[in-house]
Amino acid sequence: MKIIVTGGAGFIGSAVVRRLVNDGHQVLNLDNLTYAGNLKSVAEVTGMSNYRYARADICSGRAVSHAINEFQPDAIMHLAAESHVDRSIQGPLVFVQTNVVGTAVLLEAAYEYWVELSDEQKRNFRFIHVSTDEVFGDLGTDGGQFTEDSPYRPSSPYAASKAASDHFARAWNRTFGLPVINTNCSNNIGPFQYPEKLVPSAIRTALAGDAIQIFGDGTNIRDWLYVDDHVSGLVLTLEKGQPGQSYNFGGVSECSNSDLVDLLCSHLDALRPRTDGKSYREQVKFIDDRLGHDLRYSIDSSRARKELGWSPIDTLATSVEKTLSWYLENPEWLEFSDSYGSRVGMPY
Ligand code: NAD
Ligand code: TYD
Repeated sequence: MKIIVTGGAGFIGSAVVRRLVNDGHQVLNLDNLTYAGNLKSVAEVTGMSNYRYARADICSGRAVSHAINEFQPDAIMHLAAESHVDRSIQGPLVFVQTNVVGTAVLLEAAYEYWVELSDEQKRNFRFIHVSTDEVFGDLGTDGGQFTEDSPYRPSSPYAASKAASDHFARAWNRTFGLPVINTNCSNNIGPFQYPEKLVPSAIRTALAGDAIQIFGDGTNIRDWLYVDDHVSGLVLTLEKGQPGQSYNFGGVSECSNSDLVDLLCSHLDALRPRTDGKSYREQVKFIDDRLGHDLRYSIDSSRARKELGWSPIDTLATSVEKTLSWYLENPEWLEFSDSYGSRVGMPY
């Protein structure tokens, strides 16, 4: 297939690009390289004849239409986004611009291209909109899991922007017939993640001898999924997903932030012991909570398992091991490319 991947220089997008190119698809990576984008994440496939890159902003209808018309894709996998909750608290409007406006611009450009295709090409075309479980909001302490029918109750500006883009994607399907599929996934863990997120941030601060900062009391729970398992779900969505439908992906790996940091520390103690013989746990510091911090996320992936035949391969333990080993071998990925560095997302 000929597939455009937006955000293909980011954490998950680059894993999608590597997988699709290695599977033999023709891929155009469309990314404008914000602070979170880095083409070194696709070095493995750069130079291969079935891979191309174009620097383009998804908010620019002209740039996006040009890329689509020139490449003539069979599918678009849309991952370009502003993705960090704390930054969305610090400066929400860029999230509205990229995630909401950018997605609508991309949907419109895709529609204008799609509507001119033959009937068969129209039927086979797919627009996969990649989203998050955070659109469903906070599960609190009452148990339960998010299904595809859970109400949308986003808490952070990031989650609200992704909820809006989910709705726009659905609207382009229902109103205009564009074969759109939404996917909602839990927290990803794996290589090439920008070091502002919990896992690489904890590894970075641990190795630097700094405080490993946990927001609040550390009891907040996330459901972790290895990034390649998410990618296999997205590929199955492309192959078998029903337009107009949405699919949840999660790892059945719920873990509190404290327990996850603890796990990272024990692996680090074994793999890269501190020179003073003490545990990295000594560096853990509980700090002021994130504003609007959701307590718990948990995903029910039954539909993806039944209808797509998807199941994750990695467990939280293997994901942590693989991710940590990768960062230890690739320490340059623990460095910031922009000036933020310190904590963001505190009250103005
Ligand atoms: P990321 O921040 O690592 O990468 C985002 C990429 O998008 C970067 O390469 C950036 O340069 C690019 N980008 C940003 N604005 C752009 C614009 N205007 N035009 C073109 N490119 C632009 O994000 P990620 O963690 O890889 O997330 C990818 C997608 O998956 C996002 O839509 C996110 O909401 C979703 N998601 C992420 C997670 C997670 O745990 N990281 C979980 C579920 C869903
Ligand atoms: P994060 O990796 O930012 O992902 P998301 O907010 O999209 O779930 O955060 C994961 C969890 O870890 C979340 O509950 C916030 C918490 N957290 C910390 O405790 N300390 C940190 O330094 C960061 C970045 C996150």
